[in-house]
Amino acid sequence: MTALTLSTAAVPGLRADAIVIGVAKGSASKPGGPVVAPGAEAVDQAYDGGLAGVLETLGASGAEGEVTKLPAPAGFKAPLVVAVGLGAQPEKDSGYDTEALRKAAGVAARALAGSKKAVFALPLTDAADAGAVAEGVLLGAYSFDVYKDNGKSAKDGKNGKAPLAEAALLGGKPRDKAYKAAVERATAVAEELNRARDLINTPPNDLNPEAFAAIAQAAAKEHGIKVQVLDEKALTKGGYGGILGVGAGSASGPRLVKLSYTSSKAKKHLALVGKGITYDSGGISLKPAGHNETMKCDMSGAAAVFAAVVAAARLGLEVNVTGWLALAENMPSGSATRPGDVLRMYSGKTVEVLNTDAEGRLVLADALWAASAEKPDAIVDVATLTGAMMLALGSRTFGIMANDDAFRSAVHEAAEEVGEPAWPMPLPEHLRKGMDSATADIANMGERMGGGLVAGLFLREFVGEGITWAHLDIAGPAFNEGGPFGYTPKGGTGSAVRTLVRVAELAAAGDLG
Ligand code: BES
Ligand code: MN
Ligand code: ZN
Repeated sequence: MTALTLSTAAVPGLRADAIVIGVAKGSASKPGGPVVAPGAEAVDQAYDGGLAGVLETLGASGAEGEVTKLPAPAGFKAPLVVAVGLGAQPEKDSGYDTEALRKAAGVAARALAGSKKAVFALPLTDAADAGAVAEGVLLGAYSFDVYKDNGKSAKDGKNGKAPLAEAALLGGKPRDKAYKAAVERATAVAEELNRARDLINTPPNDLNPEAFAAIAQAAAKEHGIKVQVLDEKALTKGGYGGILGVGAGSASGPRLVKLSYTSSKAKKHLALVGKGITYDSGGISLKPAGHNETMKCDMSGAAAVFAAVVAAARLGLEVNVTGWLALAENMPSGSATRPGDVLRMYSGKTVEVLNTDAEGRLVLADALWAASAEKPDAIVDVATLTGAMMLALGSRTFGIMANDDAFRSAVHEAAEEVGEPAWPMPLPEHLRKGMDSATADIANMGERMGGGLVAGLFLREFVGEGITWAHLDIAGPAFNEGGPFGYTPKGGTGSAVRTLVRVAELAAAGDLG
């Protein structure tokens, strides 16, 4: 991953491949033309104060996502200036929007793929801004090339461009504790988030439940996290009918992984539950062609939970965090669960499986019940659960449902704070009766309309009495099928990782209610 440093060096003398500066859209007082953002003073001076005009000549407007490259002024050690758009200029003194800085840093890092070293001279107002730029750089520079060039990694630049190797952040205070802490936090979160992206992008023939569990086990060991893996035998013994039922059709058996991070100073216990379908073919209710090519992403919830627990451990958060990864491969075969089968779940409830493609709620139900047994202060589950949530919120926003309005709002606020678009969704009681089953306690499918909420209502039945719970349906933002934008690459995005880390921090601070 890109190596990151905070620096106070003067721009002209810096040896680097490029200097990144910010450019904003003109304000009311200076309509039209682009505005050079603070941090770029030395560059502007070298242009005799005419940098804004030069940028305008080159077509720059300051819009978000925009990249304008120009040769560095004479006397600069770096040959290239990269001006990256920040969007609207902020009101006087309020500083630039943190998320705009994060995105701009990501865009610049991506534009500098193939370069060795870049200097980021973006407008930083406080330590949080430094953290955001660090996060943007590390997330934006991400690439997944393991499977290119006949198995030889492209990170050496032989196939495609290698990610930006080194970034120096200017404008911060390297000796200031808050700045150091912000960059350290950003580094830990981004590294674990990128690891989640790697897991999501890894093809399903290489990442089955057993392989995922082994990776989780190794990482847990490295970071002092307690880990327990239930294999098919243990799941059978324990009565985990949901996870077993979903995994029944696959040659690769299911797993339930429990990761326990504990802090001696913890006052709260947060449980995180992730849907980990390493491939979702739909099972006997097979998905049609065109709907299964990206279904390796169906373990994104488990990847997010895994990343968040490891990040919590690396940051030494003063809260106990238990992660539950519900891992299975949903495949059709002679041993697969059929539509019409009834499963006895870990909670003891029976579920009539009307559609084997509604498998996420089955594995989550068992994991939610297992998590509930420990009586945590709150549970948050994360899942690529329904196509309906994508229809409702599009491909960049996840839905938040909960059995507690205040908790749902707190999780939503946490998401907004870290720059993850999210929106609260209801759990309308009238949709419950659509899941009434003639044979079992509940069916795994209900009304088609509001399918994301129906899935949420199903999950709610498997949360222990009196436990605060929220459900994040990340089916939209988990996997980016379009081109890269901001600090989001094509493919696995690592959606919800930053929200979960923030929720854990809030729990540690006693600010979650
Ligand atoms: N993994 C899918 C949901 C999904 C769809 C995630 C598209 C990401 C992109 C889930 O298991 C599923 O198949 N859900 C069904 C439920 C239905 C059968 C009740 C769906 O949404 O169609
Ligand atoms: Mn499915
Ligand atoms: Zn699925």
